[in-house]
Amino acid sequence: MCGIFGYVGKRTDAGVIAIDGLKNLEYRGYDSWGIACKDGKTLDVKKDIGPIGDIQSDQFGGKACSLSIAHTRWATHGGVTQRNAHPHLCEDGTIAVVHNGIVENYLELRRDLKAKGHTFQSETDTEVIPHLIEEELKKTGDFAEAVRTACLHFDGRYAILALHTESNMLVAARTGSPLIIGVDRQQNGIDGYFIASDIPAFMKHTRVVQYLDDGEMVSTDGKTITFQDIKTGDKRPKREIAITWNVEQAQKGDYEHFMLKEIMDQKESVARAVNQDEGEIRTIAEAIRRAKGTFLVACGTAAKACMAAEYFFSVVAEHHVNVAPASEFKLFHHFLKPDSLLIVVSQSGETADVLEAMRVARDKGSKVLAIVNVEGSTIDREADYTLLINAGPERAVPSTKALTGQLAILLLIAYALAERLKEGRTLLLETTSSLNDMLNPRFVERLETLAEKIQSEEDLYIIGKSWNYPMALESAIKIQEVSYVHAEGFAAGELKHGPIALIEEGTPCIVLTGNDEALQDILSNAQELKARGAMIIGIGPKKFDVFDEWIKVPEAGTAQAILNIIPIQVLAYFLAVKRGKNPDMPRNLAKSVTVK
Ligand code: AGP
Repeated sequence: MCGIFGYVGKRTDAGVIAIDGLKNLEYRGYDSWGIACKDGKTLDVKKDIGPIGDIQSDQFGGKACSLSIAHTRWATHGGVTQRNAHPHLCEDGTIAVVHNGIVENYLELRRDLKAKGHTFQSETDTEVIPHLIEEELKKTGDFAEAVRTACLHFDGRYAILALHTESNMLVAARTGSPLIIGVDRQQNGIDGYFIASDIPAFMKHTRVVQYLDDGEMVSTDGKTITFQDIKTGDKRPKREIAITWNVEQAQKGDYEHFMLKEIMDQKESVARAVNQDEGEIRTIAEAIRRAKGTFLVACGTAAKACMAAEYFFSVVAEHHVNVAPASEFKLFHHFLKPDSLLIVVSQSGETADVLEAMRVARDKGSKVLAIVNVEGSTIDREADYTLLINAGPERAVPSTKALTGQLAILLLIAYALAERLKEGRTLLLETTSSLNDMLNPRFVERLETLAEKIQSEEDLYIIGKSWNYPMALESAIKIQEVSYVHAEGFAAGELKHGPIALIEEGTPCIVLTGNDEALQDILSNAQELKARGAMIIGIGPKKFDVFDEWIKVPEAGTAQAILNIIPIQVLAYFLAVKRGKNPDMPRNLAKSVTVK
């Protein structure tokens, strides 16, 4: 996934706001960055590898600039080099393009363009776009129309933003990756427009937005704006929406990293997730009851929430649901019928594999429920029903507060399905209160000390039973992705069928427990590990002799998974920091995977 930013309008600091915009998009990709500013007639282009880091605004502050585009890259085609960084330009330098996604037929397009005399500077698929627009502009004479007809040549999902120095226009188009327009409305009217992958890029300037939907394009000269259908060119009306959350919610505050801020946000965010409209929850429960097959589909951390939900629905509502990672769902598409229900769970609301599952479901006539954190995201807008997680902006790549919100909502639905909604809400509100008490400075310090103790370990195992099994898998993701430690999660009962061969003297093994019927079994599993020399770290409501270390977590019954994962999040954070890693922007990862 990459970050796209553009501005056109009356302001003359378009380069400076582009730098600031990129810094607010860095969580989307940080292999390299680039900015193009119209300086008089020509384009001033700067790009480099690595995060945008400390680039100084004065690198663009010197000259008046009212038209700019910028990009942070997560490499797909072409290595991480300055030459491959966006923006990419056409032959005469009057057209610059930034891109998120993949032009799947770029080799064929590149060959055709080369035959017409075009030369290429990079290895990227993106670079065919400005050259193709240049060719189309020769035919149409109109920049917006040239971008539109160029898009008709592309295969694949993309979001592109193109700048034209001659017409002083920005034109953007999307099929599958997000683009949002910020309306720079002042007292005396419109001063300009921002176009970006996500709202924080321009939110300090305006909170009035317009969403670009899949298959749509937008063109603006900073004074007027036109939305069109890419295929037909038909104009489309677009309403303006005021964003309610504020910049502070999206900022780090006095935390060193977004990850720790967002972990601490859970003192309020889980309660917000629970605070759903009861009528809506009951409607969704009824839809599940009536559905001929309910399928829970997601990726990564969100997929572990779905795995936990399988236990919630079984234990609380005695209702069977099917769970699959979105990337594996293709071979189950034939089970989707018009009376099936697909439930998708996603923090960003832009994950490509999840969007694909939704489109298949829609083609089959199935209904789709989305549980998402980003209002206005593609998944939100394409679903039949949406429940918002209301966790607030989650900027760190590791998903923390979105996960606990997802778990809370899925458990609430399970209780509604069992016609025990009040009981479920009460349990969850008690759990949020326990969470508040637990997530205190002493608790954080306890986990920092534990991280200190195990920070040099290269292998770490986590075991769990029932809903704690998916949390063992999620624990592994959290620790892997921020500290780069080889962490693996197992179903506790599976140890003796293979993984226990990995245990050596002192191997750290985390045991996730609850005060439930799985307890005695998992304590036996812990004994099996201990007998082979493992160092046992117990997480749960009660301490047992088998534990070498114990992290106390309040008892939460069927909501235990929500509390048990939090010490893991904090431990993973400190392991990363102590191992000198940036937990907000781990290597090789991006906040939302908008490519399959
Ligand atoms: C979570 O820590 C990871 N960053 C990743 O697994 C993430 O959960 C996954 O990519 C799904 O993203 P989504 O929730 O935005 O769909």
